[in-house]
Amino acid sequence: MGTLGGVLTIILVVFCMPGCFLSQACRSVPLHLPAGRVQRPFQPHLKARVQLASTVSKHVEDQATSLQTASSLLALLGGKQAALSVDPSLAHQILPYLRFLVSPPQELRADSARGSLHPSLKQHSKMSPLSSFLWKEKFLVESLIHWPPPAVADLAREAVEWNGDASVILNSLSSESYLVPDVEGANEQHCQLTKYLRGQRFIKEELNQYFAFLFETISALAPSVGFNVSLDRFDLFHGHLFLANTTGRLGILFHAREYPAFDEKTFPVHLGYCQVGSPLPYDDSMNLRNILWLAPMPDCTSRKCADNASWLAPGSLLVLDAHPEGIIYKNLVPEYVDVVRTVYEDDFGAVIVDVNYFATANDKLADRLFIC
Ligand SMILES: *[C@@H]1O[C@H](CO)[C@@H](O)[C@H](O)[C@H]1NC(C)=O
Ligand SMILES: *[C@@H]1O[C@H](CO)[C@@H](O)[C@H](O)[C@H]1NC(C)=O
Ligand SMILES: *[C@@H]1O[C@H](CO)[C@@H](O)[C@H](O)[C@H]1NC(C)=O
Repeated sequence: MGTLGGVLTIILVVFCMPGCFLSQACRSVPLHLPAGRVQRPFQPHLKARVQLASTVSKHVEDQATSLQTASSLLALLGGKQAALSVDPSLAHQILPYLRFLVSPPQELRADSARGSLHPSLKQHSKMSPLSSFLWKEKFLVESLIHWPPPAVADLAREAVEWNGDASVILNSLSSESYLVPDVEGANEQHCQLTKYLRGQRFIKEELNQYFAFLFETISALAPSVGFNVSLDRFDLFHGHLFLANTTGRLGILFHAREYPAFDEKTFPVHLGYCQVGSPLPYDDSMNLRNILWLAPMPDCTSRKCADNASWLAPGSLLVLDAHPEGIIYKNLVPEYVDVVRTVYEDDFGAVIVDVNYFATANDKLADRLFIC
C-alpha cells in the first residue's frame, strides 16, 4: 500500500463518520422470516427484454432513444469539445437532472452561471451545510474524484487506448477469488446478492482501495443532494463497471435502493428472497438510485494517447435524477422497470464486471470488494 492508500484511509475515517453511523444503524435490523429456495439476484430486464423483443419496432425505437440519451450524457461529461457536440436542446433537457456529488467539469459550471442547471448545482458553489473542517475533507475527496491516483488513471487511459477492450479490465484482476461472505443475514434468507458465489479483486491494491473509496464517498456525499444512502445489502452494495462504446471511457453505474420493502400500498412488488426483511421504505428517493462514476477522460486519438499528463475531462460522480417529469426517466428508464427507476448500464457501454462492496465483510476497505 502506497502513501495514497494511507491518505484515502485517513480521509475516509475522518470524512465518512456521519454516513458510517447511519449504515451501522441500518445494518442491525434483525431478520426473522421464513426461508425458501435459493434465489439469484432479481434481473427483471433479462426476461422483460425478451418479451419486448416481440414488439420489435417499439423496442428498437426506445433503444435508439436511450442509447442516444446515454451517449449525449457521457459526452456532456467528456470534455469541452465533446460537450459542445451535444444537441443543445438535448443538453438543456439532461443537465437539470444531473445532481453532482462533486463539482462538475468547468464547461458545465459556466452553464450554471447562465441559469440552465439544476438548483443542486448552484448550491455547489456555495458552502454546503458541512462544517468548515469537513469542507476541507470534502475538498480532498473532490480532488480524488477529479484526478484519481495513478493506478486508476492508468487503467482509464489503457481502456481508451485499447478502444474499450474488456481484457484491459479482466487482465488487471488477480486470478485469486474470494468466497462472498454471508452479509447481514442473507444466507438465512437464501438470498444471493452477487452474480457468482466468489468474487475477484484487482491485482493493484490501489485500485481496490479506490473502488471501496467510491462506495464510501457516495454514502458520505449523498445527503448533499438530498438523500441518504446506506452501505448495506438492501441499499447500496453494487455497481456495474462498463467501458463506453465509442470512447472506451471507464465508468461505473451504481444502483442504490436495490431492495425496497414490499408494501401493499406503496410498493406491491415482490423482488425475491433478498427483499425479505428490507427496512427501506419505497419513496421519492428511488428517483435518485442511479449513480454514475466516470474516470477522467484521457486525450487520445485513434488509440494513441497524448503524453501522460493530458486529459480532456476530469472524473465525475453524480446522481441521475429519474424524476418522472425528466428526461432520465423518460428516455433511460425502460417502461417495465419504471416503478423501480432502473437505468441500465448497457445503455452506457459494454458491461465488463459487477463491483460488489460489503461494508460489514471486513475491517479493511479493499477486502470488502467482490468483483464478478
Ligand atoms: C508520466 O510520465 C512520467 C515520465 O515519463 C513518469 O515518471 C510518470 O510515472 C508517468 N505517470 C503516469 C501516471 O503514468
Ligand atoms: C438522512 O439521515 C439523517 C440522519 O439520520 C436525517 O437527519 C435526515 O433527515 C435524513 N435525510 C433524508 C433526506 O432522509
Ligand atoms: C455498443 O456496441 C454493441 C455492439 O456493437 C451494441 O450492441 C450496443 O448497443 C452498443 N451500446 C451502446 C451503449 O452504444
